[in-house]
Amino acid sequence: MKRTHIMEHKVLTVGIGLLAMVLPVWSAWLGSVSAAEDKTGATAPPPLSTQEFATAKQLYFALCAECHGVLRNGAVGKPLTTDLARHLGTGYLTQRITHGSPAGMPAWGDSGQLGSDQINIMARYLQYPVPAPYMAEMLDLARTRQ
Ligand code: HEC
Repeated sequence: MKRTHIMEHKVLTVGIGLLAMVLPVWSAWLGSVSAAEDKTGATAPPPLSTQEFATAKQLYFALCAECHGVLRNGAVGKPLTTDLARHLGTGYLTQRITHGSPAGMPAWGDSGQLGSDQINIMARYLQYPVPAPYMAEMLDLARTRQ
């Protein structure tokens, strides 16, 4: 009776030991998988300088927010949330902003309203989260307009 009890204890200890050895390897493997996905560009945003970010933020509010929403959740225009924009990718976003669409998206590039460098900045900016203080700024603006 006492013998089997010790045996059970041993099995449990070895079991926990094995788990402790396997878990870090497993989580390291998971980590390497998500890092590999990042390299495809599907989830990682392209670089954007602080100055470019500021420029795009202003342009977005002035030209895009009325149709796509201040928080980019979509309204008249399609939603342009960070995850959606990252999936669409810089190339597609650049094309759409440049040439627009017959479904109501203005052709900012073709009409000459935005230059190609501004469009490229916008395409990259959309792949970043909506800046946090944005909401407060918008509320302030709404108040001063009243
Ligand atoms: C007058 C309203 C309007 C304005 C202003 C506007 N858009 Fe759009 N946008 C749309 C509509 C409508 C669509 C969907 C077109 C379609 O379904 O083909 C769209 C689509 C898009 C798409 C493609 C989304 C997709 O999923 O295919 C992008 C990118 C985009 N807009 C970016 C912008 C940017 C950047 C600005 C500001 C420079 C802007 N839009 C300003 C109406 C607008």
